[in-house]
Amino acid sequence: MALRIDILTLFCEMFDGFLSASIVGRAVRNGLIEVHRTDIRQFATDTYGTVDDKPYGGGPGMVLMCRPVLDAVEAVRKQTEPQGKVILLTPQGRPLSQALVGELAGEQRLILLAGHYEGFDERIRTHLADMEVSIGDFVLSGGEVPAMVVIDAVTRLLPGALGKDESPVEESFADGLLEYPQYTRPQTFRGLSVPDVLLSGDHRRIADWRTEQARLRTAQRRPDMMARNRQRGDDRENEQTGASP
Ligand SMILES: C[S@@+](CC[C@H](N)C(=O)[O-])C[C@H]1O[C@@H](n2cnc3c(N)ncnc32)[C@H](O)[C@@H]1O
Repeated sequence: MALRIDILTLFCEMFDGFLSASIVGRAVRNGLIEVHRTDIRQFATDTYGTVDDKPYGGGPGMVLMCRPVLDAVEAVRKQTEPQGKVILLTPQGRPLSQALVGELAGEQRLILLAGHYEGFDERIRTHLADMEVSIGDFVLSGGEVPAMVVIDAVTRLLPGALGKDESPVEESFADGLLEYPQYTRPQTFRGLSVPDVLLSGDHRRIADWRTEQARLRTAQRRPDMMARNRQRGDDRENEQTGASP
């Protein structure tokens, strides 16, 4: 069964190219994901299409109002079962990680709520959102690009989404490490050669080299990931021995 993804946005057209190209486009065409876009403005409370208003207490910008967003979510939920998780895209949410992407890929339906302007009325967050997700510690103009990030990352993990020569298993973050360095032809480029081991044909040595390189690279670039790996290892050991941390 296809993973159904509903996107609630003020800018449906931003997804045109994204949903028709590359791996996501292929997943749409092959029926692995079924993506529906809903324009929140259709649920405006007046004939001008107003969906935002000034913040109480003053301050810059406009805030997305409860009514149109709630009505939009209720309308898409009524379209089909299952109800699906409502995911609010916000810089204040749970940081997106490969582990979270894996969780989302296990769902049957995702409802992605893309904000704009100064963000959402707080009651949308408290009454509607099952989860809040951030794609990083920076502020974008809207939740459309974050929604695309989520859809792309989730789609890659769906069985059959990648071609037979591609695999999500060996990629960065899949096993708590960054990926090893990759090379392709030519063997020498401007005096820079491919490491001999990769030309050796010895699969065991190549696998060992890659593991070693992945560890080195992760330690150099992402000591935080190495620390988390060590902590996980300690936790597992404690579980096995029954020792308390
Ligand atoms: C300009 S931002 C609002 C930021 C909000 N005023 C704040 O300071 O938290 C407008 C919308 O873009 C989206 N957005 C911006 N940055 C994001 C991020 N890092 N992750 C996920 N969504 C983001 C959210 O949907 C947000 O409602």
